[in-house]
Amino acid sequence: MSEPKCSAGQPCGACTACVLDGVSFWAIDGVMATLSDRVDRALAAAREQGARIHRAWAMPNADTFSIPPIRRMLSARIRPGMQVVDPFARNSTWGTTTNDLNPDTDAHHHLPAEVFLAKLGARAYDVALFDPPYSPRQMTECYSKVGHPNNGRNAKLYSAVRAELDRVLRPGGLAFSFGWNSSGFGKKYGYERLETLLVCHGGAHNDTICVVERKPLALPTTPEEPKR
Ligand SMILES: C[S@@+](CC[C@H](N)C(=O)[O-])C[C@H]1O[C@@H](n2cnc3c(N)ncnc32)[C@H](O)[C@@H]1O
Repeated sequence: MSEPKCSAGQPCGACTACVLDGVSFWAIDGVMATLSDRVDRALAAAREQGARIHRAWAMPNADTFSIPPIRRMLSARIRPGMQVVDPFARNSTWGTTTNDLNPDTDAHHHLPAEVFLAKLGARAYDVALFDPPYSPRQMTECYSKVGHPNNGRNAKLYSAVRAELDRVLRPGGLAFSFGWNSSGFGKKYGYERLETLLVCHGGAHNDTICVVERKPLALPTTPEEPKR
């Protein structure tokens, strides 16, 4: 194939309108490329950032971590010997330090999540699990009305608990978030997204949205103020 030429009549490698035999070419880093090359590049960049999104089907269950695709996601990344903190544990045993406000659960502690976390040392954990009640209605129907003082104030609870989890998670540690949105810790904390799993439960059920992120190893440094 001869080299594509743009409307200027020469292969410029920089314009957005090079056409050869009816096929449009664009310049990427000075190299001529077709639209499908551009799509491939975008997908490769997404893969490099680890932005893997996948979907599975499973029966709903109030014990989130017993749902098979979620259990597989946890066991793929949590290794024996890792320190795992779980402030909303219910009866789950994934955490090495666990808490649940409901005293009728198997958790080690029974405090409001942010009060429990405030007692833990900074950067002490390899993994943080964030599986709060997803809505006031869910608290009533699935979790014995536990957490009702927070009724309608999930945003406040989420943000207070995320701030504490970020404090106790070591740099490079993993954060797993579960719920009805894919926010995770996100840009606010500078976490890198590794994986998003949508678990569809069929019928009129909401999906359970699971996000895995990594805490940055080093915080971005702010440029020093110029000395006067
Ligand atoms: C979605 S469930 C966690 C399920 C658990 N990850 C599992 O796999 O079985 C949320 C839990 O948070 C507890 N909870 C509600 N409000 C809380 C609060 N403010 N602090 C601590 N725990 C709370 C509920 O009792 C409930 O067991």
